[in-house]
Amino acid sequence: MLRATFHGHSCVMATDGKYNIIIDPFLTGNPQAIINADEVKVDYILVTHGHGDHLGDTVAIAKRSKAIVIAPNELATYISKHGVKTHNMHIGGAFNFPFGRIKLTIAHHGSAAGEELIYTGSPCGFLVMMGGKTLYHSGDTGLFYDMKLIGDGNQIDLAFLPIGDNFTMGIDDAVIAVELLHPKIVVPIHYQTWPVIDAEPFEFVNKLKDFPTEVIILKPGESIEG
Ligand code: NI
Ligand code: MN
Repeated sequence: MLRATFHGHSCVMATDGKYNIIIDPFLTGNPQAIINADEVKVDYILVTHGHGDHLGDTVAIAKRSKAIVIAPNELATYISKHGVKTHNMHIGGAFNFPFGRIKLTIAHHGSAAGEELIYTGSPCGFLVMMGGKTLYHSGDTGLFYDMKLIGDGNQIDLAFLPIGDNFTMGIDDAVIAVELLHPKIVVPIHYQTWPVIDAEPFEFVNKLKDFPTEVIILKPGESIEG
């Protein structure tokens, strides 16, 4: 069993009933979030890149929950300097954690933290094999053709893909991403948080209506069982 809960923007929590993980815990200042960072209790925090709308409340949640942060090496090193335990990984690498297996995938984007724009290496996406299911969270990225390798090499049950445009894929590119990844279910993320990424998710649903993939729009706080 794998239950994933969307918390607005790019934040996804997942549980197998025993372990709880959160991806990109941007809650403080996230206009879509309906929970506070201090309500979050997780075992692991996965961070795709250093931008504030993804790194978010990582340090505060990690300290309070005593959670381990999983991130690309440079970003994990930056986070560890804030007194948080990290597990450093990098693109293409996988590791078996107590809750499941994580593999880092490429993402075409930037990654710098804070107003000083401290370099935090390459951004990533995550393949999460947990509770007998495979979840893919692409992180912020443009469309890339290697999504075909990710889709052909893994039976993705649940994909979280940005559709907001401007900073990431827009709807038309996200439709091609679904073609390459062919997940069972896709959930659009990273849209309508701010006017500049004001994409309409029903347009995404409409463009995928003849695809075998099911599109599910989750409101913040809503869950899906993969
Ligand atoms: Ni970003
Ligand atoms: Mn972002």
